[in-house]
Amino acid sequence: MFVTVLLLLVTLCAQGGHGEEKVEAQRPGHVSVVIVGGTGDLAKKYLWQGFFELYVSQVGSGNTFSFYAGGLSPVDQATPVLFEILKAAFCLKHISEERCAVLKEQFLRLAQYRQLKTLEDYQELAKHIEKQLQEEGMAEAGRLFYLSVPAFAYADIADKINNSCRPTSGAWLRVVLEKPFGHDFRSAQVLASQLGNSLKDKEMYRIDHYLGKQVVSKILPFRIENKKFLDPIWNKYHIERMEIVLKETLDVKGRIAFYDQYGVIRDVLQNHMTEVMTLLTMQLPLNLSSSEEVAHNKLQILSSLLPLGKNQAVIGQYQAYKTEVQQELNKTKDHISVTPTFAAVLAHVDEAQYDGVPILLISGKMLDERVGYARILFKNDIFCLQNHNNIHCKPKQIVFYFGHGSLKYPAILVSKNLFKPALMDEWKEVTEHTDVSVLGLPISDYYVQTPTVQREAYAELIAHIFAGHKNSFISTENLLASWGLWTPLLNGLASSFPRIYPGGTDNEDLLDIRLKGNDISYNSEVVIISPDQMGGTSANNFQVMQGKYRSADMVSAWAEELVERLAADLQEAAEAAVREGGVFHLALSGGSTPLALFHRLVLHHFSFPWRNTHVWMVDERCVPLTELESNFHSLHDHLLQHVRIPYYNIHPMPVQLNQRLCVEEDGAALLYEKEINKLVNGSRFHFVLLGVGYDGHTASLFPGTKVDGHEESLVALTESPVKPHQRMSLTFSAINQAHQVSLLVMGKGKHELITQLSRMKDNPNKWPVTGVRPANGRLVWYIDYDALLG
Ligand SMILES: *[C@@H]1O[C@H](CO)[C@@H](O)[C@H](O)[C@H]1NC(C)=O
Ligand SMILES: *[C@@H]1O[C@H](CO)[C@@H](O)[C@H](O)[C@H]1NC(C)=O
Ligand SMILES: *[C@@H]1O[C@H](CO)[C@@H](O)[C@H](O)[C@H]1NC(C)=O
Ligand SMILES: *[C@@H]1O[C@H](CO)[C@@H](O)[C@H](O)[C@H]1NC(C)=O
Repeated sequence: MFVTVLLLLVTLCAQGGHGEEKVEAQRPGHVSVVIVGGTGDLAKKYLWQGFFELYVSQVGSGNTFSFYAGGLSPVDQATPVLFEILKAAFCLKHISEERCAVLKEQFLRLAQYRQLKTLEDYQELAKHIEKQLQEEGMAEAGRLFYLSVPAFAYADIADKINNSCRPTSGAWLRVVLEKPFGHDFRSAQVLASQLGNSLKDKEMYRIDHYLGKQVVSKILPFRIENKKFLDPIWNKYHIERMEIVLKETLDVKGRIAFYDQYGVIRDVLQNHMTEVMTLLTMQLPLNLSSSEEVAHNKLQILSSLLPLGKNQAVIGQYQAYKTEVQQELNKTKDHISVTPTFAAVLAHVDEAQYDGVPILLISGKMLDERVGYARILFKNDIFCLQNHNNIHCKPKQIVFYFGHGSLKYPAILVSKNLFKPALMDEWKEVTEHTDVSVLGLPISDYYVQTPTVQREAYAELIAHIFAGHKNSFISTENLLASWGLWTPLLNGLASSFPRIYPGGTDNEDLLDIRLKGNDISYNSEVVIISPDQMGGTSANNFQVMQGKYRSADMVSAWAEELVERLAADLQEAAEAAVREGGVFHLALSGGSTPLALFHRLVLHHFSFPWRNTHVWMVDERCVPLTELESNFHSLHDHLLQHVRIPYYNIHPMPVQLNQRLCVEEDGAALLYEKEINKLVNGSRFHFVLLGVGYDGHTASLFPGTKVDGHEESLVALTESPVKPHQRMSLTFSAINQAHQVSLLVMGKGKHELITQLSRMKDNPNKWPVTGVRPANGRLVWYIDYDALLG
């Protein structure tokens, strides 16, 4: 009956001719909106207001509505609660008070509370909707379920909806879900497949309310509108770095039971900040309205992000957190949580356009101010000798300012030394400024634009859901790709201890961050020395120790100093060889041990004579060079691509010939040997770097390999006891002719081996590493304290 009243009112209002934003819906008719969890916090704070705004915007569209709040409480208890919430709904500024009052009264009449617990409850709801449609003789446009409940209830509710609440054919079903969508890759996958049993992909709307923030939703349109200015500078040659920052002043008191299981990375980095990062870096879609194209381009950038390891993140926890956990989770005083409340992560996109451009994602609780922004800082190649106030001398940057902070309103800011951006639709330019600075520049040094009407993210997204625009929602594929990026890092950090910070302005420089190549660290070192550490083991008192091991030279130190020393020795050998003969022949091993050395060389040895260096392989696995398992692949990723070495100086082992891998008749070993003979004087490498395996193997010479069989040749095909079995390796003849051979051994795990080897006589068949005996060269063991002392 009330529907008729509404229709009357609709007509009246339409004649009033007010200019509410029209949102396009597919087929006009009746729309049922069900908020499950309709009296909860989120519904109270944002959702009902959002639906009220939708309702107001739809006046005159031909659509009619009913609104249901669903919940577990009985009707008589929850109904007054619901109406308290609804009464707080307000109109946006451009609607007169009288009119607003009329609209609100109407809105209240369209709403009711229903208990939604059992399947029968959902069936009753469906019956109610159908009966109403019939009585009023109306066509159904669609049903919108907003699940504002804990994620564990999603699958069950989705199942009930599918079983009993699907609309009549022709009408749409949309089910809206709130994060968390799992807490790692596996759980997200499980949840996605459970939901997939009840709902089609196109029926699911996964909300990330950040995508409804006005500034965030304008990132792509801004990039498209200003394409002619941005195209030439949106790349590694011009971008110094990107920063996505979300600082909060609040703590998580009262929410610990939830928060302690998630932490800041799961709470905001995996979702909101990753979304902003993809919007900044993704390839622009040709058609911004095509959600398939947008999702596809997002997925592409997500898959080209370099893996995040422990060196790409620092974490922190505010001081009071520990006590809050103890209180709220009812834990004893010795309970410690390592859940981070602060994190800074350094990401890189592995695409030529962004090669080496640092992307920083930073967020935390209990920081000095509340602010959110994404900044693109450009390189400035102008050097000002005087007159530093000249705009050309100042930072060049674009800031997407989400809100709060010193500016207090959402805005897009472009520093005046870049370009004057096009004005966005429904945005206005700000020219009257208060005396405020944003990220190092006075506001008057920016072109500033802001939305004409400020709207809440939820209201914006509710309008998108109603219109069926899927652009601002997270697809299953993209969700899983994002978890694929974050899960390894989360696992890696699971046992890391966060830096404790006091909170607010007392944090001072404690959380300042330093970027170093691909790595990120806290800028200030906080050294905590516990009393038992100060007792002083002997190893603590000297940095690098020289000695003898198996009657050869040995250098020993803590891992970091050891690698430093080896890198220095390597550079010295390279410089000596280049001085003497103009060339340095270096043979490198695979495996994880030398990676630290490669990083050291890349980041600290800029004067290494790479142009005169030839890089050879000690051994290789019989897999295509493009595979992760390939030693060359790893060498390429960790060393070669980062240094200026001519391509023709790089000599991967030819494991793949005639489209097959390591087949004897293809003569790959002989081919590599010929190349060595041709280029290396006397076939004597200047420097061979070896490691040693737990079974005593070195290069790919394994115990029980017929070592003697290869006496004559320099290169051989060998068999490994572990997969991939087939290998190609330098032989002892090649290794033992070298000028210098270095054996690098690191880690506690190698202690047992080092102890055994120290007593072992030479027995290359059983312990291949004991066959390393340079005839006219020098052998040096580099063993770290962990391996040496255990
Ligand atoms: C929904 O339920 C029906 C059975 O009632 C089932 O056949 C269907 O596969 C379910 N899922 C979807 C996505 O329709
Ligand atoms: C862009 O995509 C939308 C949604 O898929 C479609 O309706 C529209 O026709 C497309 N526009 C162009 C120019 O292809
Ligand atoms: C806290 O834990 C203790 C012991 O497990 C229990 O006796 C007590 O009832 C708990 N208190 C609360 C508030 O949960
Ligand atoms: C090659 O090695 C021999 C013997 O070690 C040496 O005499 C000769 O100068 C070297 N040739 C070059 C081109 O370095």
